[in-house]
Amino acid sequence: MAFVQLNNISLNFGERKIVDNISLNISSDSKMALSGGNGSGKSTLMKIIAEINPPDSGEIIKDKSSRVAYLPQSGIVLSGKSLIEDTEGAFDYMIPVIEEKNRIEQMLSTVNEATDGTDSMLEKLHELQEAIDNSGYYARRESAAIILNGLGFSSEDLEKTTTEFSGGWQMRIALTRVLLSNPDIMLLDEPTNYLDLEARNWLEGYLSTYKGGFIIVSHDRYFLDSTVNEVAELFSSKIKIYKGNYSSYEKKRELELEQLVKDYKRQQEEIAKTEDFINRFRYQATKAKQVQSRIKALDKIERIELPENMKKIAFHFPPPPHSGKQVLKIEDLSKAYGEHKVINNLDLQLEAGEKLVIAGRNGAGKSTLMRIIAGIDKDYTGNIIYGSGIAAGYFSQDVDNALTPNVTVLEEIESSAPTHLVPEVRGMLGAFLFRGDDIYKSTNVLSGGERNRLSLLKLLLHPSNLLLLDEPTNHLDLQSKDVLLEALKEYSGTLVFVSHDRYFIENLATKVIEIENGKHRLFPGNYEYYLWRKEQEAEGILEDSNTKRNKEPEQLDVSEAKLSHQEEKRIKNRIRKLEREEEEVLVKAEKIEEEIQLLNKKMQDPDVYSSAKKADEVQKSIAEKEALHGSLLEKWEKIEQEKEELTQ
Ligand SMILES: Nc1ncnc2c1ncn2[C@@H]1O[C@H](COP(=O)(O)OP(=O)(O)OP(=O)(O)O)[C@@H](O)[C@H]1O
Ligand SMILES: [Mg+2]
Repeated sequence: MAFVQLNNISLNFGERKIVDNISLNISSDSKMALSGGNGSGKSTLMKIIAEINPPDSGEIIKDKSSRVAYLPQSGIVLSGKSLIEDTEGAFDYMIPVIEEKNRIEQMLSTVNEATDGTDSMLEKLHELQEAIDNSGYYARRESAAIILNGLGFSSEDLEKTTTEFSGGWQMRIALTRVLLSNPDIMLLDEPTNYLDLEARNWLEGYLSTYKGGFIIVSHDRYFLDSTVNEVAELFSSKIKIYKGNYSSYEKKRELELEQLVKDYKRQQEEIAKTEDFINRFRYQATKAKQVQSRIKALDKIERIELPENMKKIAFHFPPPPHSGKQVLKIEDLSKAYGEHKVINNLDLQLEAGEKLVIAGRNGAGKSTLMRIIAGIDKDYTGNIIYGSGIAAGYFSQDVDNALTPNVTVLEEIESSAPTHLVPEVRGMLGAFLFRGDDIYKSTNVLSGGERNRLSLLKLLLHPSNLLLLDEPTNHLDLQSKDVLLEALKEYSGTLVFVSHDRYFIENLATKVIEIENGKHRLFPGNYEYYLWRKEQEAEGILEDSNTKRNKEPEQLDVSEAKLSHQEEKRIKNRIRKLEREEEEVLVKAEKIEEEIQLLNKKMQDPDVYSSAKKADEVQKSIAEKEALHGSLLEKWEKIEQEKEELTQ
């Protein structure tokens, strides 16, 4: 069986221990997650396993015939070939085998059949032929097309050169190559970062039936839950294995941490008491013996240390500068890349405090729309109008390019901070977990999460009342994601964002716009409503409002018949009544949303989730509330529909 075995591996960066004497086995049976906070050393360890960077000490034993393929977290380098050619390159490892086969065929064609050795040559030929067949070499184009399609590429993309694709898409190309080469063991460092929900689901399916082994880094718990059966955690430079899926690891982990904190507190109290005793009685001759023995005991205590990684980032967005009610007006916006239209006649208005999520598949044009709103992409038709007093802050999806290369963390922040904040930047860096010597690190060596944190901090240096965030949670560990979510929930300015993190969207968006194939739709409700509405449409229960709009002319014909004055009055009254009902329904729905949120929070309480009975009860009431919520939204939908019909 193929395997990679790490024995007593250690690696330091300067003073800092990244991995300390760890051992780990990965085989072609492994379905393993590598977890740990941002900057804990996961990518560094993956590079060691992939034998890209050597450790300071220890050994790596690998079965010679094992094929290991590695997807790095960043820094993909692609050839300038077409997409299909590049991905087919995953089979390059078969070229020597094919050459060998051709050589033998050549030899066979020249030797005399009766001559000795033909048999063994034929046997070898057969063997090679079988190896080529089994590798899927002859069907490589079809296999490449299947994987590319699963990861969201269109058939028109196949002939484009790989360098034309944006960073996120280049990662997918690299991922396609890794999957296509069908290795015994895959090392995947955050493959989910740039994938939308669809591609992520596809990859989930692919991995769940994958014959070989893999070790995967991801901060997506849903994804990990359905792909791995053990979790290796890198924590304080040590590895610990937890059997079971990701959720069960998280639960065990949380209990362990709680215990650790408890023990730590108890020990701190103990130490404080002993020190107190020593200080109080150190000059009393009668107590000299007891004081001495306590000093000794204090020396002997093995002190519990709280790991550095437990410290959370802490920040709030600065209060947004005052602005008018109208924040953003988009008028008749259209944008095309050559023939390819991504946005068509978009009209949109945002009022202060709204939180709009741009939904849609990868490549639909979400980042394009963001760049246009941010004023970076100026190649469009239509108008983008900021309200008076609007100051926008933009976070680009491409964190790799958002930082100045080869400067220190401190220099990067000092150079972008307004003068009055310069004296405070060290404190701010500390809140973003750049402590001690960390601030002298070069931007080149930062981990994915660290880069993201630094870019976020840059954004905070200039107070804004319109935040434009393109995938702000990419690379962030779960803790940091939560902190960002809380900070954004608290933020009273206006927000436009793109995210593939469902939890994040659900908890933040008050409005949804979906862009798809050059079309767009606005959903005047939160993300739950959007999903519900899409589901209803998919099942044919409700009509897609786009289709409905197309039907409008017909309906207008009917309404051309003049309404009598009385009829008009009746309609007005009915509309007023509907509006009142609507208001009531929405207030109720909002209340239930809050209740559901509270219940969900309760589920995270160890007291609840560790008791099957309590957890069950909470789950049950969540389900009841969700059903109620669904029926309220349904009611709202009906009211909306009737209102719409009446006003036509
Ligand atoms: N060449 C280097 N020199 C000094 N420090 C480095 C170097 N490379 C990485 N580091 C530091 O080592 C730590 C571990 O980095 P690594 O990229 O392995 O983290 P990670 O666990 O993958 O984090 P993330 O979840 O953010 O991707 C980070 O603090 C990083 O800044
Ligand atoms: Mg990493």
